Amino acid sequence: MDDALAQADALNPNPLREGLDIERTPVPATIVIFGASGDLTFRKLIPALYDLAYERLLPAGFSILGFAHRDFDDASFREQMRAGVEEFSRNPLDNAVWDSFSAGIHYTRGDFTIDEDYDKLARRLREIDSDRGTTGNYLYYLATPPRFYEPIIDGLAARGLENPSSEASWRRIIVEKPFGHDYQSAHELNMAISEAFDEDNVYRIDHYLGKETVRNILAFRFGNGIYEPLWNRHYIDHVQITVAESIGIEDRAGYYERSGAIRDMVQNHLMQLFSLTAMEAPVSLAADAVRDEKVKVLNAVRPMRPELVPRQTVRAQYGPGYVSGEEVAGYRDETGVATDSMTETYAALTLYVDNWRWAGVPFYLRTGKRLARRVTEVAIRFRPVPQRLFESDPTEHSAPNELVLEIQPDEGINLNFKVKVPGPTFDLRPVNMVFQYGTAFNVQLPEAYERLLLDAMLGDRTLFIRRDEVEAAWQIVDRVISGWERQGAHSIPTYHSGSWGPSEANLLLAHDGHEWRRP
Ligand code: BG6
Repeated sequence: MDDALAQADALNPNPLREGLDIERTPVPATIVIFGASGDLTFRKLIPALYDLAYERLLPAGFSILGFAHRDFDDASFREQMRAGVEEFSRNPLDNAVWDSFSAGIHYTRGDFTIDEDYDKLARRLREIDSDRGTTGNYLYYLATPPRFYEPIIDGLAARGLENPSSEASWRRIIVEKPFGHDYQSAHELNMAISEAFDEDNVYRIDHYLGKETVRNILAFRFGNGIYEPLWNRHYIDHVQITVAESIGIEDRAGYYERSGAIRDMVQNHLMQLFSLTAMEAPVSLAADAVRDEKVKVLNAVRPMRPELVPRQTVRAQYGPGYVSGEEVAGYRDETGVATDSMTETYAALTLYVDNWRWAGVPFYLRTGKRLARRVTEVAIRFRPVPQRLFESDPTEHSAPNELVLEIQPDEGINLNFKVKVPGPTFDLRPVNMVFQYGTAFNVQLPEAYERLLLDAMLGDRTLFIRRDEVEAAWQIVDRVISGWERQGAHSIPTYHSGSWGPSEANLLLAHDGHEWRRP
């Protein structure tokens, strides 16, 4: 814990934080980052690792070996990473922490497709083992474009780097998204990985699972007795899952043009939010117990028939507009985007889960770029009361009870219910009961990558995606994509940047007599 926070806690103890200081420290290991000269390493991985070092959660001897094409040596790579830490770490750059952390940072220049370069890598790893006592524990991080995943796995396997050097050491691999482009390619990638690594050593990452508030969905649902009895078709009318972003595609046109919102966001992040919200209670928090339930609910999603795709989905593209008062360009005017691009930057869909808990309850999922503001939430809309007792209640049907799990940026939980307005009449008004993480715990929430990197070093796979899970999610999304392809449309609806999306998305819910929440 931060010294200032520790002092503040000592003077003024916060009962909500009591007993929370159980820290887990992994054994010494080297994390090998393939694609170490890229953006992910600079903005997310190294800053997160530094934050772990700052919080004293890394073991002595912990080391990083960057491996990429660019021409760095250890010193210049460290310098570069220092700038990333200064800009993106949650904690301030502390010289003492940096000095000891950066002593473990190394770099080897290499080409992912040249066999001999894996010899250099192996030599470097052995040196680090003997200098820093990392005893052959290697965590490989694939932070490269996906076309290099298989060459890297083959390169490691050809040099025996996939196998631990002794019983006591381990080799694990973290695979970034996108994990495949569709079900078939994801399946093939899984096959290629399984040739070299046992599933127990494969960590497919979805950074949403590292977010405290996403994990809190499990805690909220299964750590409390009062909501779970209501969490079903008898009491819940429908569920809305929103991941709205105000940013555009930034400089990622090359990737985004081939991906679109459905592959970039729905297949992974929205499916995770969906499965955590809809799954049954796991028998324990063991990795496979949790993942078994997530896979079950993904498999229970009603396969979308092609003729239903136009009715159950919406795709659209942002046009020009204003976001936070600033004028922004439309998608087709972004650098690198085709002027007739049909790539969607907004996707919404209705899913039905064919099981006893959820039969008949629609789950509406939406995500888009350049929307009015950044907000991620899961909103549970309860059924209206069965009897209209309060004649003067204008909101009786328009505002049923709602529970909102706010994931970001205002992390918290919001319960909306009705109360009587003071006075002689029986007027009802909706009010909110609000819990906010920040104020309740008085801590800064860790970044998703901190938690996930630490878990991978500790060998905890709970928050990583299993092979069958990624394939099940692709099967859902593939049906939508092939339905869109069958439509053979030559135009795509647009929405103004800075709005809440296309009008077609309102129709999606209007069919069922519902409306999108305005977050
Ligand atoms: C990434 C997507 O996985 O998630 C991006 O590729 C998106 O397009 C990002 O902007 C959103 O993550 P977060 O943590 O900012 O909600």
